[in-house]
Amino acid sequence: MTQLTHPTSSPSRPHPAGPDATQHAIVIRQLTKHFRRRDGSTVPAIDGADLHIESGEFVVLLGPSGCGKTTLLRSVAGLETPDSGSIAVGGVTVFDGEAGIDVGPERRELSMVFQSYALWPHMTAAQNVRYPLENQRGPRQSRSQMNERVTEALTAVGIGDLGGQYPNQLSGGQQQRVALARALVNNSTVVLFDEPLSNVDAKVRETLRVELLAMQRRLGFTALFVTHDQAEAMELATRIAVLDRGQVQQFGTPDEIYARPATEYVAKFIGNTNELPGTRVAGGYETPVGLVRTPEDAGEQATVLFRPEHARLSTEQPATASALPGRVVAVLFMGTHTEFLVRSGETRMRIWVSGRSTDFAEGDEIWVGLQEQDVMVFASHPGQSARPEDDAR
Ligand SMILES: Nc1ncnc2c1ncn2[C@@H]1O[C@H](COP(=O)(O)OP(=O)(O)OP(=O)(O)O)[C@@H](O)[C@H]1O
Ligand SMILES: [Mg+2]
Repeated sequence: MTQLTHPTSSPSRPHPAGPDATQHAIVIRQLTKHFRRRDGSTVPAIDGADLHIESGEFVVLLGPSGCGKTTLLRSVAGLETPDSGSIAVGGVTVFDGEAGIDVGPERRELSMVFQSYALWPHMTAAQNVRYPLENQRGPRQSRSQMNERVTEALTAVGIGDLGGQYPNQLSGGQQQRVALARALVNNSTVVLFDEPLSNVDAKVRETLRVELLAMQRRLGFTALFVTHDQAEAMELATRIAVLDRGQVQQFGTPDEIYARPATEYVAKFIGNTNELPGTRVAGGYETPVGLVRTPEDAGEQATVLFRPEHARLSTEQPATASALPGRVVAVLFMGTHTEFLVRSGETRMRIWVSGRSTDFAEGDEIWVGLQEQDVMVFASHPGQSARPEDDAR
């Protein structure tokens, strides 16, 4: 393989047509992994996960702390042995619980980029990139062959002139490139990332994200990237797998996950929501703040959700499908939008208007208008886990 110079997969088509198995970079089927806690209880860290990842995709595993992201990634890498199910990488089965297949991590055609990149501080960029070649299984390449590969990898990520620098002499973006070059020097077509940007401040993180995405598109490798940051997931992913307690709740494009969340958990984890308890009546759901019209039926008792950016505020009762009365109790300017905190009885709702809005002030009696397509309803599940690190925005 000559991945660096001739990408085997085209970055311009992240979703190759058809279910052709050879197009799949990673196939995970019915994977489970339990851990035993010290008190003797068992935790299902992965609970029947299925993921079919196509070549050239940038897939993000997203979910709160403890939902199994790292365990799933480490299982693909071969650093963790699942209990059952199977994993194939590049069409080769690397794990199969039933068939007793468990290929060692060094023999799987993939690389991993760790948190903070884990570059060796006492080695130059070039030495860091050469490291996997020197520690490769099988016949060792000659020194000049290795140097050639290292130069090729550093050039591919755009830092061909920085091979002699030590990590502490490089910017965050340059260090990220060294880590990528090291991951790609073995011609890996699949690169796994475990929260590589988590120790960087927000501004730098944004820059690194853009850069990582540009390089992934250009070089064409398949990325499986773990994060608990939904904004990061939305920006990077061709598809996001939302995990909850070891289960894949939804696997879809950022658009699908935002606009058509499969479960209440996903709706609350991606983006922001207002939540109302509803009882089914003709035409929709009766809530503490009034009738919310929707053609959807999620059973007798349901949770009615709508996003703060989808509602409209008005002084006169609007002609929208639903019109909920309330009073503005706070106005917060958030930079990109203005948040109006609206109260109706015991219910509080957050409504966002883009930019700085002075249309309504604290104390104003207003209406919250909703279109049918803005409303999501899910059957009530008492005890369903809500969004854990509730958005403080
Ligand atoms: N070696 C282990 N022994 C026992 N339990 C473990 C072990 N590793 C992970 N777990 C448990 O498995 C579950 C999943 O852990 P995992 O590290 O995969 O979560 P994560 O989604 O990566 O979380 P974070 O965002 O905090 O990194 C957790 O409940 C964790 O406590
Ligand atoms: Mg983790």
